[in-house]
Amino acid sequence: MTRNKSPSSWRQFPIKQQPKYPDALQLEEVESQLRALPPLVFAQEIRDLKQHLANVGHGKGFLLQGGDCAESFSEFSANKIRDTFKVLLQMAVVLTFGGRRPVTKIARMAGQFAKPRSADYEDVDGQSLLSFRGDIINSADANADARIADPQRMLRAYHQSASTLNLLRAFAQGGFADLHQVHRWNMSFVEASPGKQRYQKLSDRIEDALAFMEVCGVNSQTTPTIRETQLFTSHEALLLNYEEALSRIDSFTGKSYNCSAHFVWIGERTRQLDHAHVEFFKRIENPIGVKIGPSTTPDQLLRLSDALNPHNEAGRLTLITRMGADVLEEKLPPLIRAVQREGRELVWSSDPMHGNTVKSSSGYKTRQFDDILRELQQFFAVHIAEGSYPGGIHLEMTGEHVTECTGGAYGITDSDLGTRYLTSCDPRLNADQVLELAYLIADTFVHIAPDSSSPQN
Ligand code: PEP
Ligand code: CO
Repeated sequence: MTRNKSPSSWRQFPIKQQPKYPDALQLEEVESQLRALPPLVFAQEIRDLKQHLANVGHGKGFLLQGGDCAESFSEFSANKIRDTFKVLLQMAVVLTFGGRRPVTKIARMAGQFAKPRSADYEDVDGQSLLSFRGDIINSADANADARIADPQRMLRAYHQSASTLNLLRAFAQGGFADLHQVHRWNMSFVEASPGKQRYQKLSDRIEDALAFMEVCGVNSQTTPTIRETQLFTSHEALLLNYEEALSRIDSFTGKSYNCSAHFVWIGERTRQLDHAHVEFFKRIENPIGVKIGPSTTPDQLLRLSDALNPHNEAGRLTLITRMGADVLEEKLPPLIRAVQREGRELVWSSDPMHGNTVKSSSGYKTRQFDDILRELQQFFAVHIAEGSYPGGIHLEMTGEHVTECTGGAYGITDSDLGTRYLTSCDPRLNADQVLELAYLIADTFVHIAPDSSSPQN
């Protein structure tokens, strides 16, 4: 990979949600340091993911994407990375079995630092401060100095991402992801859950399938795919100085890849067609996502797909809908119909988190488990009714036992939220809550036939 010719045309376009760095020279210095550092991921891995997503788009796979709303410098530890990876693996087993399709796993990890905010300033303990924009930009501490954007933080985010990826790769290949072990974790989850009755049957069927495979000689010793897995990384590519500096020209194809993650997405607040983020994303070859909220019109959607996927390449574009449980049934069908009418290749994924955020009576930003489940169920039902394939889910979640979203089998209430409310941004589902979700939606897509008109891969 060469280091010149990073995609910089975005700098000529209007841009939203960026910090103002007080020292331009220091910013340039950090950018050139980042340009000289090794890429975090490699172009061939990125191409592999695109192929996975092409299969998902054709109904031959399912996408599971999840992790923190915002990673943080202070909440950084091996255990935390392990626990989130573990719960992603557990969900993937349940979804693979239920849906009878391979599950492509993408973590919101190893780079998910920058956050869009609703205002430039926020009120903290009675003082008006510059908004916290994620640890890659400024500090959440409640004083004016801490809120000044500091480019050095990009280097720290890079190094934290590199350590995170290193551990994830070790876990994926080093035996931690063994299917038998993941299944044992699931059995313990089911055994302990107050919702045990609902989940036991699926777990028993997986147990039988594993026992059958074992008798046939398909086990961890004979079959690497039982022992190992592949995990891709992703984040919202919001801070374009960082994203540009980690883009590289692939020497094999001569094309630009954003090597800060395998998959990057454009947020709901920065997807304007004539702005910098869309411009930057046009210049990179990665598989990409766009968050789509309830105000999106069919016309806007088609124009976004024209701009971001002009050759209608399979696997390139994932639309991540985040409608809100109350409006999805009304807003999603016209978008699906427009895509079908125009024959656009894409993956539909559901983010049931960002349209369902509320303020609890105890003052915490939260989300109710039932709203999240309802949006997911409606997402599946609407796609199935329209003859379209619901290809994936996108969750804010953690392997830790936090109390940030209410509900679920353990019945977290508003008054429990303060017990372990640890997120540095939005409320995440905890390990038990996301596993429940996986069990509850596991067999919703088993009966949908893959798209037979598309080429076999
Ligand atoms: C996010 O994914 O954390 C986020 C900010 O989402 P959205 O762009 O949908 O608001
Ligand atoms: Co969020």
